[in-house]
Amino acid sequence: MIPMSKKLIAGNWKMNGTLADLLEVSAIAAAAEDAKADAVLCPPATLIDRAVSATRGTRLRIGAQDCHANTSGAHTGDISAEMLADLGAAYVILGHSERRVDHGETSRTVAAKALAARRAGLNAIICVGETEGERAGGTTLAVVEEQLRTSIPEGASAANTTVAYEPVWAIGSGRVPTNEEIAEVHAALRAALSSRFGSEATGIRLLYGGSVKPSNAGSIFSIAGVDGALVGGASLKASDFAAILSAASGT
Ligand code: PGA
Repeated sequence: MIPMSKKLIAGNWKMNGTLADLLEVSAIAAAAEDAKADAVLCPPATLIDRAVSATRGTRLRIGAQDCHANTSGAHTGDISAEMLADLGAAYVILGHSERRVDHGETSRTVAAKALAARRAGLNAIICVGETEGERAGGTTLAVVEEQLRTSIPEGASAANTTVAYEPVWAIGSGRVPTNEEIAEVHAALRAALSSRFGSEATGIRLLYGGSVKPSNAGSIFSIAGVDGALVGGASLKASDFAAILSAASGT
């Protein structure tokens, strides 16, 4: 496997953040200027426009947390990939386990959204991950490989796709798989990407997500095959985000 040039740290603010938090966005952008890793911040949709303005000319890219599969139409409350691109977003998280559970999203829905993201020029951060029961039952690799196969449409490349391995039980729980467990899943996902997309898959970054914090980031980034992180809780504070960025810069 050819090593990725730079790690990617993507912050997922989930349903957190109001206008007052734009100061935190600017502080994260300032931290990203000095980092050797790339940085993306996905605030709630209500802050994307302001966050893009606040970070213009910096290295911090702004992303969204979901999009609709269609360009426009009668879909009350939804936001299209084109609308996000229109605001200056560059990424969109798709298939996060909270959306799969809260909104009944299937991998087929995620694949349709990924095509929409590509159509609009966004890079889709596609999430996969096993539940605690699936890990206990020994089906982790089968589950994540199936999610990967059905959530990512044909024609994926580094320009349009990023993958995040997020064990559902590790999200927001403070619990993290062992380094060996993360390495095993990343190796399986990398092999699946390579066999399906060939050389086009080489640059697709494979992030780990689930309770990444300043205290464990260095260890996680030392695992072979981990190209960065998708960070929830610890992305809310610029000081934590900066510490994770600097841990990623050193590896
Ligand atoms: P967490 O969330 O870092 O708070 O565990 C990660 C995620 O849901 O992307």
